[in-house]
Amino acid sequence: MNKTYAALLLVLVFGFGIHAEERNPQVVRAKHGVVVGVSQPGSEAGLKMLQRGGNSVDAAVATALAMAVTVPEAGNIGGGGFMMILPGPGKPPVCIEYRETAPAAATENMFPLNHTRFGHRVVGVPGTLRGLELAHKKYGKLPWKQLVVPAVQLARDGFEIDAFTAKSLNKVLAGSATKRFAEFQRVFGKEDKKPWAKGDRLIQPDLAKTFQLIADQGADAFYRGRIAGWIAEEMQAGGGLITKQDLANYEAKLRRPIKTSYRGYDVFGAALPSSGGTTMGLMLNMLENFELRKQNRWSPATAHIMIEVMRRAYLDRARHLGDADFVKIPEQLYSKQYAQQLAKSIDLNKETRSEYLARDIPLADESPSTTHFSVADSSGMAVSNTYTLEFSYGSRVVVRGAGFLLNNEMGDFNWKRGHTDRKGRIGTKANLIQPGKRMLSSQTPTLVTKDGKFYMATGSPGGRTIINTALGVVLNRLEFGMSLKDAVAAPRLHHQWFPDVARFEDVEEAKFAPLVQQIKARGHQLNDKAYIQGDAHSIGVDEKTGRLIGVADDRRSGFAAGY
Ligand code: DON
Repeated sequence: MNKTYAALLLVLVFGFGIHAEERNPQVVRAKHGVVVGVSQPGSEAGLKMLQRGGNSVDAAVATALAMAVTVPEAGNIGGGGFMMILPGPGKPPVCIEYRETAPAAATENMFPLNHTRFGHRVVGVPGTLRGLELAHKKYGKLPWKQLVVPAVQLARDGFEIDAFTAKSLNKVLAGSATKRFAEFQRVFGKEDKKPWAKGDRLIQPDLAKTFQLIADQGADAFYRGRIAGWIAEEMQAGGGLITKQDLANYEAKLRRPIKTSYRGYDVFGAALPSSGGTTMGLMLNMLENFELRKQNRWSPATAHIMIEVMRRAYLDRARHLGDADFVKIPEQLYSKQYAQQLAKSIDLNKETRSEYLARDIPLADESPSTTHFSVADSSGMAVSNTYTLEFSYGSRVVVRGAGFLLNNEMGDFNWKRGHTDRKGRIGTKANLIQPGKRMLSSQTPTLVTKDGKFYMATGSPGGRTIINTALGVVLNRLEFGMSLKDAVAAPRLHHQWFPDVARFEDVEEAKFAPLVQQIKARGHQLNDKAYIQGDAHSIGVDEKTGRLIGVADDRRSGFAAGY
């Protein structure tokens, strides 16, 4: 990543970081059902479905579609993601995988390392609507059309944007990367060309037309009907690779989640091609070998062990993980024994340099925005969903006349065979581009059960930091016994093997100065300014009353709706 690009990303993404003392997640307690996500109209769309007798999956589909209107930077129909579903008490969770796919014409070397991450060529075949369709067909109760109505209305009549969205739109519109995308400027720019402000109405008539087709004809409108034609035309006009055939061939897949037991709980994570479940499972299995709860959550020993565990798991992620339909994944990554062996390799007094751990990978350098929401209802069903356009506003390509953005997910593949470097670029074979292959993801929608019953749901945006954000929230609950609110508010820690630098969210807080100093004393490099773009909208259960507790992370916007 070049410096200007890195700086741009910092402004685009990290500009919204908030000060720790301001962190006060909004909490809702409810008997019947809860929907927690980044957008108030999005959460309310889901809640409406629950109130009408729909279940968590109906609510999740309505929320995902509504957020494709109200969260333009990450909510989408032009991207993809992962939906974890707990169908009910005692029933095994499933993972609906709707990750984007490389078009048939994609080739391993299609991108030089300095290729732009914007524009038509970096778009993967979108998966969102096939994923939501599959979830609805398998588990939904309400008619599809009803689930799409809020999205149609929000696009047609507009909605009041919140402060976060106003700021985000203003930044992206002014950014040099977006200037050349005329349709983006037309669709998301304010008519009077003034900056957006909280409370302004964003009306999206083209998108309303698109959603009306989806309401009337289902996902087929997008993959085989009129919308497919519009996408193919857009691709041809802009030099992209996606054809009508690519769209017609796209399938969402039902996958077995990654199950990891941890101190009497079962943690279910997203299957490959997300590295989320596998990497988090490996970290939990390593962490089980330490008695962290006997140490303070904020002790240097805890931080040290967590960094070392992250480093080792992210190395294995880089070394082995890719689309399991294309590459063989070593079984040992899921074994407690292997994790124990890795845990034993941790020196409790000092860091292990990342480069010493991976002598087999020659060293020769990911990003924001994504969004996570969680849903649970009184039947014991729950949904944990993360979906994304990859960067905020994806490729910046809006399909002409159709009003929606396309992802830039091809950037999640490894672009150059053999090019693994200290900046974090990975060149291992498992995640190289191949036609029809799905790019490795870090999305980590997670469900935790206790004795087969729903216990919690969490997940986050944040590129490679996602897995560690989800790990932190889960650990704060299961290991340290924090309330869900505190678990979400707590500062986050991140290490991803390379770059060999740890990030601690509250590194600048005076009260953490001794901790920071002691982490450094163990030899770790620690970033001085460490925003981690986590945004973990989570749900738990009040163990005393059995009521659902929704916690909306306030690091961006965020709204927990319940009844
Ligand atoms: O699937 C992935 O791992 C990435 N495309 C996610 C990007 C992301 O989280 C950006 N968010 N802040």
